[in-house]
Amino acid sequence: MIAQRLPIGTPLDPNFQYVPHEPKYSASEKRAKAIKQNQSNFHNARIDYDIRLLMTGKGGGKTKAGVAEALYWALAYPGTTGLVVEPTLKMIKRILIPEFTRILGRGIKRSPLVSGYNKQEGILEFTNGSTIFFGSTEDPESNEGASLDWIYWDEARLTKKFELSWLTLSSRLRGTGALPEGMTPSIWITTTPSPMKSDMWKTFANESDDRDRNLKIGIFSWRFDDNIALDDNYKNIIYGTNKTDAQIEAFIEGKWSSMGTGTYKFDHNRHVIDDKGLPHPDQVKTVVYGVDWGYVHPFVILAIIIDTEDRAYIVDEFHKSYFEPDMRAKKCKEFRDKWGDGTFFCGHERPEEIRKLRKLGLDARANKTKRDDGLDEMAGRFYDTDGSPRIFFHERCVSTIWECTEYDIKVKENDDGQDCYRYGIMGYLTSGGRTVQVMQKQNRREPSRRKAKHLQAQTTSIPIKRRGR
Ligand SMILES: Nc1ncnc2c1ncn2[C@@H]1O[C@H](COP(=O)(O)OP(=O)(O)O)[C@@H](O)[C@H]1O
Ligand SMILES: [Mg+2]
Repeated sequence: MIAQRLPIGTPLDPNFQYVPHEPKYSASEKRAKAIKQNQSNFHNARIDYDIRLLMTGKGGGKTKAGVAEALYWALAYPGTTGLVVEPTLKMIKRILIPEFTRILGRGIKRSPLVSGYNKQEGILEFTNGSTIFFGSTEDPESNEGASLDWIYWDEARLTKKFELSWLTLSSRLRGTGALPEGMTPSIWITTTPSPMKSDMWKTFANESDDRDRNLKIGIFSWRFDDNIALDDNYKNIIYGTNKTDAQIEAFIEGKWSSMGTGTYKFDHNRHVIDDKGLPHPDQVKTVVYGVDWGYVHPFVILAIIIDTEDRAYIVDEFHKSYFEPDMRAKKCKEFRDKWGDGTFFCGHERPEEIRKLRKLGLDARANKTKRDDGLDEMAGRFYDTDGSPRIFFHERCVSTIWECTEYDIKVKENDDGQDCYRYGIMGYLTSGGRTVQVMQKQNRREPSRRKAKHLQAQTTSIPIKRRGR
Protein backbone atom coordinates (compact mmCIF):
# COMPACT_ATOMS: atom_id res chain seq x y z
CA MET A 1 0.00 0.00 0.00
CA ILE A 2 2.15 2.81 -1.21
CA ALA A 3 1.35 6.43 -1.79
CA GLN A 4 -1.72 6.26 0.40
CA ARG A 5 -0.19 8.34 3.13
CA LEU A 6 -1.89 11.53 2.05
CA PRO A 7 -1.11 13.91 4.88
CA ILE A 8 -4.28 13.96 6.86
CA GLY A 9 -4.16 17.62 7.68
CA THR A 10 -4.15 18.42 3.99
CA PRO A 11 -7.72 18.98 2.95
CA LEU A 12 -8.69 16.97 -0.08
CA ASP A 13 -10.74 19.93 -0.99
CA PRO A 14 -10.60 23.53 0.12
CA ASN A 15 -14.11 23.20 1.56
CA PHE A 16 -13.13 20.33 3.85
CA GLN A 17 -13.80 21.41 7.45
CA TYR A 18 -11.63 19.00 9.34
CA VAL A 19 -8.19 18.94 10.79
CA PRO A 20 -7.51 15.92 12.97
CA HIS A 21 -6.57 16.59 16.52
CA GLU A 22 -3.01 16.14 17.47
CA PRO A 23 -3.04 17.35 21.07
CA LYS A 24 0.17 19.01 22.11
CA TYR A 25 1.64 17.15 25.05
CA SER A 26 5.08 17.77 26.44
CA ALA A 27 7.55 14.91 26.11
CA SER A 28 7.16 13.96 29.76
CA GLU A 29 3.36 14.04 29.55
CA LYS A 30 3.59 11.86 26.51
CA ARG A 31 5.71 9.35 28.35
CA ALA A 32 3.44 9.45 31.38
CA LYS A 33 0.27 8.97 29.43
CA ALA A 34 1.80 6.87 26.69
CA ILE A 35 -0.06 9.11 24.31
CA LYS A 36 0.54 8.01 20.84
CA GLN A 37 -3.08 7.88 20.13
CA ASN A 38 -5.15 10.59 18.60
CA GLN A 39 -7.15 11.22 15.49
CA SER A 40 -4.03 11.55 13.32
CA ASN A 41 -2.68 8.20 14.47
CA PHE A 42 -6.01 6.62 13.73
CA HIS A 43 -6.08 8.00 10.18
CA ASN A 44 -2.47 7.26 9.38
CA ALA A 45 -2.86 3.65 10.49
CA ARG A 46 -5.06 2.95 7.48
CA ILE A 47 -1.87 1.82 5.81
CA ASP A 48 -1.04 -0.69 8.51
CA TYR A 49 -4.43 -2.14 9.37
CA ASP A 50 -7.40 -3.26 7.32
CA ILE A 51 -9.44 -3.30 10.53
CA ARG A 52 -9.30 -0.36 12.89
CA LEU A 53 -11.19 0.12 16.11
CA LEU A 54 -11.38 3.60 17.56
CA MET A 55 -12.73 3.52 21.05
CA THR A 56 -13.07 6.52 23.34
CA GLY A 57 -15.37 7.88 25.97
CA LYS A 58 -18.41 9.98 25.08
CA GLY A 59 -17.44 12.94 22.93
CA GLY A 60 -13.86 11.83 22.32
CA GLY A 61 -14.08 12.79 18.66
CA LYS A 62 -14.82 9.38 17.15
CA THR A 63 -17.67 10.12 14.83
CA LYS A 64 -15.95 13.15 13.43
CA ALA A 65 -12.81 11.13 12.69
CA GLY A 66 -14.86 8.23 11.28
CA VAL A 67 -16.81 10.46 8.91
CA ALA A 68 -13.67 12.30 7.81
CA GLU A 69 -12.09 8.93 7.07
CA ALA A 70 -15.14 7.95 4.99
CA LEU A 71 -14.89 11.14 2.98
CA TYR A 72 -11.20 10.59 2.59
CA TRP A 73 -11.72 7.19 0.98
CA ALA A 74 -14.55 8.39 -1.23
CA LEU A 75 -12.56 11.38 -2.45
CA ALA A 76 -9.06 9.95 -2.61
CA TYR A 77 -10.12 6.83 -4.52
CA PRO A 78 -12.48 7.77 -7.36
CA GLY A 79 -15.17 5.28 -8.30
CA THR A 80 -15.07 3.37 -5.03
CA THR A 81 -18.07 2.22 -3.01
CA GLY A 82 -18.35 2.46 0.75
CA LEU A 83 -20.99 1.79 3.36
CA VAL A 84 -21.56 3.73 6.55
CA VAL A 85 -23.63 2.06 9.24
CA GLU A 86 -25.16 3.15 12.51
CA PRO A 87 -27.03 0.88 14.92
CA THR A 88 -30.33 2.51 13.90
CA LEU A 89 -31.69 4.47 10.96
CA LYS A 90 -32.57 7.26 13.38
CA MET A 91 -28.90 7.67 14.28
CA ILE A 92 -28.00 8.13 10.63
CA LYS A 93 -30.28 11.12 10.43
CA ARG A 94 -29.42 12.46 13.85
CA ILE A 95 -25.66 11.92 13.92
CA LEU A 96 -24.13 10.99 10.60
CA ILE A 97 -25.73 13.25 8.06
CA PRO A 98 -25.11 16.36 10.19
CA GLU A 99 -21.44 15.35 10.55
CA PHE A 100 -21.08 14.86 6.78
CA THR A 101 -22.66 18.26 6.33
CA ARG A 102 -20.32 19.90 8.82
CA ILE A 103 -17.20 18.43 7.28
CA LEU A 104 -18.28 19.12 3.71
CA GLY A 105 -18.74 22.67 4.84
CA ARG A 106 -22.25 23.25 3.51
CA GLY A 107 -25.49 21.42 2.78
CA ILE A 108 -24.65 17.98 1.40
CA LYS A 109 -26.41 18.61 -1.88
CA ARG A 110 -24.72 21.97 -2.36
CA SER A 111 -21.21 20.66 -1.94
CA PRO A 112 -19.30 20.90 -5.21
CA LEU A 113 -17.90 17.44 -4.47
CA VAL A 114 -21.33 15.83 -4.43
CA SER A 115 -23.24 14.90 -7.56
CA GLY A 116 -26.32 13.49 -5.91
CA TYR A 117 -27.87 12.64 -2.59
CA ASN A 118 -30.91 10.41 -2.23
CA LYS A 119 -32.08 10.81 1.34
CA GLN A 120 -34.80 8.18 1.06
CA GLU A 121 -32.53 5.46 -0.24
CA GLY A 122 -29.50 6.65 1.72
CA ILE A 123 -27.14 7.04 -1.24
CA LEU A 124 -24.54 9.76 -1.58
CA GLU A 125 -22.75 10.14 -4.90
CA PHE A 126 -19.67 12.17 -5.65
CA THR A 127 -18.57 13.89 -8.80
CA ASN A 128 -15.50 11.62 -8.92
CA GLY A 129 -17.75 8.56 -9.33
CA SER A 130 -17.51 7.34 -5.73
CA THR A 131 -20.61 6.26 -3.82
CA ILE A 132 -21.45 6.03 -0.14
CA PHE A 133 -24.42 3.99 1.08
CA PHE A 134 -25.98 4.54 4.49
CA GLY A 135 -27.39 1.63 6.46
CA SER A 136 -28.22 0.36 9.92
CA THR A 137 -27.63 -2.83 11.85
CA GLU A 138 -31.21 -2.98 13.18
CA ASP A 139 -31.81 -5.94 10.92
CA PRO A 140 -28.34 -7.41 10.36
CA GLU A 141 -29.39 -9.57 7.41
CA SER A 142 -30.50 -6.49 5.51
CA ASN A 143 -26.84 -5.56 5.17
CA GLU A 144 -26.10 -8.45 2.89
CA GLY A 145 -25.34 -7.30 -0.61
CA ALA A 146 -22.78 -6.39 -3.18
CA SER A 147 -19.05 -6.02 -2.58
CA LEU A 148 -17.64 -2.91 -0.97
CA ASP A 149 -14.28 -1.16 -0.82
CA TRP A 150 -14.70 0.08 2.71
CA ILE A 151 -17.10 0.16 5.62
CA TYR A 152 -17.41 2.63 8.44
CA TRP A 153 -19.41 1.39 11.44
CA ASP A 154 -20.25 3.93 14.13
CA GLU A 155 -21.24 3.05 17.72
CA ALA A 156 -20.95 -0.67 17.22
CA ARG A 157 -21.46 -1.07 20.96
CA LEU A 158 -25.13 -0.19 20.44
CA THR A 159 -25.66 -2.91 17.86
CA LYS A 160 -27.66 -5.66 19.51
CA LYS A 161 -26.64 -8.50 17.26
CA PHE A 162 -22.98 -7.66 17.03
CA GLU A 163 -21.62 -10.97 15.88
CA LEU A 164 -24.13 -11.43 13.10
CA SER A 165 -23.66 -7.83 12.00
CA TRP A 166 -19.90 -8.23 11.99
CA LEU A 167 -20.07 -11.39 9.90
CA THR A 168 -22.52 -9.90 7.44
CA LEU A 169 -20.61 -6.67 7.05
CA SER A 170 -17.09 -8.04 6.93
CA SER A 171 -18.08 -10.62 4.32
CA ARG A 172 -18.86 -7.76 1.97
CA LEU A 173 -15.36 -6.35 2.08
CA ARG A 174 -14.32 -7.98 -1.15
CA GLY A 175 -13.51 -4.79 -3.03
CA THR A 176 -15.17 -3.54 -6.21
CA GLY A 177 -11.98 -3.37 -8.22
CA ALA A 178 -11.93 0.41 -8.05
CA LEU A 179 -9.23 0.71 -5.38
CA PRO A 180 -5.76 1.47 -6.67
CA GLU A 181 -3.33 -1.38 -7.23
CA GLY A 182 -2.06 -2.79 -3.96
CA MET A 183 -4.83 -1.30 -1.79
CA THR A 184 -7.00 -3.67 0.18
CA PRO A 185 -10.54 -3.03 1.45
CA SER A 186 -10.80 -1.53 4.88
CA ILE A 187 -13.19 -1.31 7.80
CA TRP A 188 -13.06 1.07 10.72
CA ILE A 189 -15.29 1.05 13.72
CA THR A 190 -15.69 3.94 16.10
CA THR A 191 -17.48 3.26 19.34
CA THR A 192 -17.78 3.80 23.03
CA PRO A 193 -16.39 0.65 24.66
CA SER A 194 -18.52 -2.34 25.52
CA PRO A 195 -17.97 -4.63 28.52
CA MET A 196 -15.29 -7.27 28.53
CA LYS A 197 -16.61 -10.62 27.33
CA SER A 198 -19.22 -8.89 25.18
CA ASP A 199 -19.36 -10.06 21.58
CA MET A 200 -17.47 -6.98 20.42
CA TRP A 201 -14.74 -7.59 22.96
CA LYS A 202 -14.53 -11.24 21.97
CA THR A 203 -14.08 -10.32 18.33
CA PHE A 204 -11.52 -7.55 18.75
CA ALA A 205 -9.73 -7.79 22.06
CA ASN A 206 -9.94 -11.29 23.42
CA GLU A 207 -6.39 -12.48 23.84
CA SER A 208 -7.32 -16.12 24.22
CA ASP A 209 -7.35 -18.65 21.47
CA ASP A 210 -10.97 -18.41 20.43
CA ARG A 211 -10.39 -15.13 18.65
CA ASP A 212 -9.58 -15.35 14.99
CA ARG A 213 -5.85 -14.72 15.18
CA ASN A 214 -5.68 -13.84 11.51
CA LEU A 215 -7.53 -10.64 12.21
CA LYS A 216 -4.94 -7.93 12.55
CA ILE A 217 -6.66 -5.11 14.30
CA GLY A 218 -5.42 -1.65 15.12
CA ILE A 219 -7.03 -0.40 18.32
CA PHE A 220 -6.96 3.31 19.11
CA SER A 221 -8.27 4.69 22.33
CA TRP A 222 -8.16 7.78 24.51
CA ARG A 223 -10.07 9.46 27.29
CA PHE A 224 -13.04 11.56 26.26
CA ASP A 225 -11.49 14.68 27.79
CA ASP A 226 -8.38 14.34 25.62
CA ASN A 227 -10.58 15.87 22.92
CA ILE A 228 -9.44 19.48 22.93
CA ALA A 229 -12.65 20.61 21.22
CA LEU A 230 -14.81 19.92 24.27
CA ASP A 231 -15.86 22.73 26.55
CA ASP A 232 -15.95 22.49 30.35
CA ASN A 233 -19.71 22.48 30.46
CA TYR A 234 -19.92 19.33 28.39
CA LYS A 235 -17.12 17.69 30.33
CA ASN A 236 -18.86 18.39 33.63
CA ILE A 237 -22.03 16.78 32.37
CA ILE A 238 -20.12 13.65 31.41
CA TYR A 239 -18.27 13.54 34.75
CA GLY A 240 -21.56 14.10 36.57
CA THR A 241 -23.62 11.49 34.79
CA ASN A 242 -21.13 8.64 34.74
CA LYS A 243 -20.63 7.43 38.28
CA THR A 244 -20.41 3.66 38.38
CA ASP A 245 -17.02 2.02 37.87
CA ALA A 246 -18.16 0.58 34.58
CA GLN A 247 -19.46 3.93 33.33
CA ILE A 248 -16.22 5.65 34.27
CA GLU A 249 -14.17 3.02 32.50
CA ALA A 250 -16.24 3.05 29.33
CA PHE A 251 -17.59 6.56 28.95
CA ILE A 252 -14.80 8.60 30.51
CA GLU A 253 -11.63 6.57 30.13
CA GLY A 254 -12.56 4.86 26.87
CA LYS A 255 -11.62 1.40 28.11
CA TRP A 256 -13.40 -1.94 27.92
CA SER A 257 -15.53 -1.92 31.03
CA SER A 258 -15.44 -4.67 33.59
CA MET A 259 -19.22 -4.77 33.79
CA GLY A 260 -22.38 -3.55 32.07
CA THR A 261 -22.99 0.19 32.18
CA GLY A 262 -26.73 -0.06 32.84
CA THR A 263 -28.76 -0.25 36.05
CA TYR A 264 -28.25 -3.93 36.74
CA LYS A 265 -25.01 -5.25 38.13
CA PHE A 266 -24.57 -7.28 34.99
CA ASP A 267 -21.32 -9.16 34.59
CA HIS A 268 -20.66 -11.41 31.60
CA ASN A 269 -18.44 -13.59 33.76
CA ARG A 270 -21.19 -14.42 36.21
CA HIS A 271 -24.45 -14.09 34.34
CA VAL A 272 -23.78 -15.55 30.91
CA ILE A 273 -23.67 -19.33 30.70
CA ASP A 274 -23.33 -22.03 28.09
CA ASP A 275 -24.96 -25.48 28.22
CA LYS A 276 -22.64 -26.47 31.05
CA GLY A 277 -24.16 -23.77 33.25
CA LEU A 278 -27.70 -25.12 32.94
CA PRO A 279 -29.24 -26.93 35.89
CA HIS A 280 -29.21 -30.72 35.87
CA PRO A 281 -32.60 -32.01 34.65
CA ASP A 282 -33.28 -33.28 38.20
CA GLN A 283 -32.90 -29.71 39.41
CA VAL A 284 -35.39 -28.25 36.95
CA LYS A 285 -38.70 -27.26 38.43
CA THR A 286 -40.50 -25.75 35.49
CA VAL A 287 -40.25 -23.62 32.40
CA VAL A 288 -42.08 -20.35 31.84
CA TYR A 289 -42.16 -17.90 28.98
CA GLY A 290 -42.22 -14.15 28.71
CA VAL A 291 -43.78 -12.39 25.74
CA ASP A 292 -43.43 -8.72 24.89
CA TRP A 293 -45.53 -7.48 21.98
CA GLY A 294 -43.93 -5.17 19.48
CA TYR A 295 -43.59 -4.44 15.83
CA VAL A 296 -41.21 -1.56 15.26
CA HIS A 297 -39.92 -2.22 18.74
CA PRO A 298 -39.03 -5.88 18.64
CA PHE A 299 -41.47 -8.66 19.39
CA VAL A 300 -39.80 -10.85 22.00
CA ILE A 301 -40.33 -14.36 23.34
CA LEU A 302 -38.03 -15.74 26.04
CA ALA A 303 -37.92 -19.28 27.40
CA ILE A 304 -36.97 -19.35 31.08
CA ILE A 305 -36.03 -22.43 33.05
CA ILE A 306 -36.69 -22.25 36.78
CA ASP A 307 -34.68 -24.54 39.01
CA THR A 308 -35.64 -26.01 42.35
CA GLU A 309 -34.05 -23.01 44.10
CA ASP A 310 -36.13 -20.65 41.94
CA ARG A 311 -33.10 -19.48 40.04
CA ALA A 312 -33.99 -18.33 36.53
CA TYR A 313 -32.12 -19.33 33.37
CA ILE A 314 -33.08 -17.43 30.24
CA VAL A 315 -32.31 -20.16 27.73
CA ASP A 316 -33.74 -19.03 24.43
CA GLU A 317 -34.88 -15.85 22.75
CA PHE A 318 -36.80 -14.70 19.74
CA HIS A 319 -36.14 -10.99 19.38
CA LYS A 320 -37.20 -9.37 16.13
CA SER A 321 -38.47 -6.06 14.81
CA TYR A 322 -41.00 -5.97 11.97
CA PHE A 323 -42.04 -9.55 12.62
CA GLU A 324 -45.29 -10.52 10.87
CA PRO A 325 -48.00 -10.08 13.57
CA ASP A 326 -49.90 -13.12 12.23
CA MET A 327 -46.90 -15.29 12.96
CA ARG A 328 -46.52 -14.37 16.63
CA ALA A 329 -48.75 -17.08 18.11
CA LYS A 330 -47.16 -19.70 15.89
CA LYS A 331 -43.70 -18.64 17.02
CA CYS A 332 -44.80 -18.98 20.65
CA LYS A 333 -46.02 -22.48 19.93
CA GLU A 334 -42.66 -23.35 18.41
CA PHE A 335 -41.05 -22.27 21.66
CA ARG A 336 -43.46 -24.42 23.67
CA ASP A 337 -42.78 -27.41 21.41
CA LYS A 338 -39.08 -26.93 21.86
CA TRP A 339 -38.78 -26.15 25.58
CA GLY A 340 -41.84 -27.82 27.05
CA ASP A 341 -45.15 -26.98 28.71
CA GLY A 342 -45.25 -23.84 30.73
CA THR A 343 -47.17 -20.64 31.14
CA PHE A 344 -46.69 -17.72 28.76
CA PHE A 345 -46.76 -14.48 30.73
CA CYS A 346 -47.49 -11.75 28.22
CA GLY A 347 -47.66 -7.98 28.04
CA HIS A 348 -51.21 -7.19 29.21
CA GLU A 349 -51.92 -4.50 26.64
CA ARG A 350 -52.88 -6.89 23.85
CA PRO A 351 -55.64 -9.22 25.15
CA GLU A 352 -56.55 -10.20 21.60
CA GLU A 353 -53.04 -11.55 21.05
CA ILE A 354 -53.22 -13.52 24.26
CA ARG A 355 -56.47 -15.09 23.05
CA LYS A 356 -54.69 -16.14 19.86
CA LEU A 357 -52.10 -17.99 21.92
CA ARG A 358 -54.84 -19.75 23.90
CA LYS A 359 -56.54 -20.80 20.69
CA LEU A 360 -53.36 -22.64 19.82
CA GLY A 361 -53.56 -24.49 23.10
CA LEU A 362 -50.97 -22.46 24.99
CA ASP A 363 -51.42 -21.49 28.62
CA ALA A 364 -51.17 -17.74 28.05
CA ARG A 365 -51.90 -15.07 30.65
CA ALA A 366 -51.49 -11.34 30.94
CA ASN A 367 -48.71 -10.06 33.17
CA LYS A 368 -50.44 -8.60 36.21
CA THR A 369 -47.39 -7.73 38.29
CA LYS A 370 -46.23 -4.19 38.96
CA ARG A 371 -43.21 -2.85 37.10
CA ASP A 372 -41.52 -1.53 40.24
CA ASP A 373 -41.91 -4.77 42.16
CA GLY A 374 -40.49 -6.63 39.20
CA LEU A 375 -37.52 -4.29 38.83
CA ASP A 376 -36.65 -4.73 42.51
CA GLU A 377 -36.82 -8.48 42.20
CA MET A 378 -34.76 -8.54 38.99
CA ALA A 379 -32.10 -6.15 40.35
CA GLY A 380 -31.68 -8.34 43.41
CA ARG A 381 -31.21 -11.42 41.29
CA PHE A 382 -28.05 -10.02 39.68
CA TYR A 383 -26.30 -9.95 43.07
CA ASP A 384 -24.80 -13.06 44.54
CA THR A 385 -27.18 -14.59 47.03
CA ASP A 386 -25.82 -17.71 48.72
CA GLY A 387 -22.72 -17.36 46.60
CA SER A 388 -24.43 -17.24 43.25
CA PRO A 389 -26.63 -14.91 41.22
CA ARG A 390 -30.25 -15.91 40.73
CA ILE A 391 -30.51 -15.06 37.07
CA PHE A 392 -28.53 -16.43 34.13
CA PHE A 393 -28.58 -15.93 30.39
CA HIS A 394 -27.61 -18.58 27.90
CA GLU A 395 -25.04 -17.19 25.48
CA ARG A 396 -27.39 -17.75 22.55
CA CYS A 397 -29.68 -14.97 23.87
CA VAL A 398 -27.48 -12.28 22.38
CA SER A 399 -30.04 -9.48 22.17
CA THR A 400 -31.23 -9.90 25.74
CA ILE A 401 -27.65 -10.09 27.00
CA TRP A 402 -26.84 -6.95 25.08
CA GLU A 403 -29.79 -5.17 26.68
CA CYS A 404 -28.66 -6.23 30.14
CA THR A 405 -25.45 -4.29 29.70
CA GLU A 406 -27.28 -1.14 28.65
CA TYR A 407 -30.66 -1.19 30.33
CA ASP A 408 -31.35 1.91 32.38
CA ILE A 409 -34.58 1.50 34.35
CA LYS A 410 -35.21 5.24 34.16
CA VAL A 411 -35.28 5.22 30.37
CA LYS A 412 -37.86 3.37 28.33
CA GLU A 413 -35.31 2.00 25.92
CA ASN A 414 -33.54 -1.29 25.37
CA ASP A 415 -36.19 -2.85 27.55
CA ASP A 416 -38.03 -5.29 25.31
CA GLY A 417 -36.22 -8.40 26.48
CA GLN A 418 -35.92 -6.90 29.96
CA ASP A 419 -39.70 -6.58 30.25
CA CYS A 420 -40.04 -10.02 28.85
CA TYR A 421 -38.08 -12.02 31.43
CA ARG A 422 -39.54 -9.83 34.14
CA TYR A 423 -43.05 -10.91 33.06
CA GLY A 424 -42.00 -14.54 32.98
CA ILE A 425 -40.18 -14.61 36.30
CA MET A 426 -42.66 -12.41 38.16
CA GLY A 427 -45.56 -14.35 36.69
CA TYR A 428 -44.01 -17.53 37.96
CA LEU A 429 -43.23 -16.11 41.41
CA THR A 430 -46.66 -14.63 42.01
CA SER A 431 -48.34 -17.81 40.98
CA GLY A 432 -46.58 -19.88 43.57
CA GLY A 433 -42.83 -19.48 43.39
CA ARG A 434 -40.72 -17.96 46.12
CA THR A 435 -39.49 -14.38 46.01
CA VAL A 436 -36.03 -13.40 47.06
CA GLN A 437 -34.81 -10.63 49.30
CA VAL A 438 -33.47 -7.73 47.32
CA MET A 439 -29.88 -7.01 48.13
CA GLN A 440 -27.77 -3.88 48.73
CA LYS A 441 -27.96 -0.80 46.47
CA GLN A 442 -28.77 1.98 48.88
CA ASN A 443 -30.60 3.91 46.24
CA ARG A 444 -33.19 1.22 45.69
CA ARG A 445 -36.34 1.02 47.72
CA GLU A 446 -37.05 -1.84 50.06
CA PRO A 447 -38.80 -4.57 48.14
CA SER A 448 -42.53 -4.35 48.38
CA ARG A 449 -44.14 -7.15 50.28
CA ARG A 450 -45.76 -9.36 47.78
CA LYS A 451 -49.12 -10.90 48.41
CA ALA A 452 -48.46 -14.52 49.05
CA LYS A 453 -50.66 -16.34 46.67
CA HIS A 454 -50.28 -19.91 47.64
CA LEU A 455 -51.24 -21.26 44.34
CA GLN A 456 -49.19 -24.30 43.78
CA ALA A 457 -46.63 -23.58 41.10
CA GLN A 458 -47.10 -25.71 38.11
CA THR A 459 -44.50 -28.31 38.58
CA THR A 460 -45.05 -30.18 35.41
CA SER A 461 -42.04 -32.26 34.61
CA ILE A 462 -40.80 -30.90 31.39
CA PRO A 463 -38.64 -32.40 28.75
CA ILE A 464 -35.79 -29.96 28.53
CA LYS A 465 -34.47 -30.33 25.09
CA ARG A 466 -30.92 -29.18 24.86
CA ARG A 467 -29.62 -27.73 21.71
CA GLY A 468 -26.15 -28.40 20.49
CA ARG A 469 -24.05 -25.30 20.13
N1 LIG B 1 -10.64 17.33 14.82
C1 LIG B 1 -11.65 18.03 15.32
N2 LIG B 1 -11.75 19.35 15.05
C2 LIG B 1 -12.75 20.08 15.55
N3 LIG B 1 -13.73 19.59 16.34
C3 LIG B 1 -13.69 18.29 16.65
C4 LIG B 1 -12.65 17.44 16.15
N4 LIG B 1 -12.88 16.20 16.62
C5 LIG B 1 -14.00 16.27 17.36
N5 LIG B 1 -14.49 17.51 17.39
C6 LIG B 1 -15.71 17.96 18.07
O1 LIG B 1 -15.81 17.33 19.34
C7 LIG B 1 -17.16 16.99 19.62
C8 LIG B 1 -17.27 15.50 19.86
O2 LIG B 1 -16.90 14.82 18.69
P1 LIG B 1 -17.65 13.51 18.19
O3 LIG B 1 -16.93 13.04 16.98
O4 LIG B 1 -19.11 13.75 18.06
O5 LIG B 1 -17.36 12.57 19.44
P2 LIG B 1 -17.81 11.05 19.71
O6 LIG B 1 -18.32 10.49 18.43
O7 LIG B 1 -16.55 10.42 20.18
O8 LIG B 1 -18.83 11.11 20.77
C9 LIG B 1 -17.98 17.45 18.43
O9 LIG B 1 -18.51 18.71 18.70
C10 LIG B 1 -16.96 17.52 17.33
O10 LIG B 1 -17.34 18.43 16.34
MG1 LIG C 1 -20.19 9.61 18.10
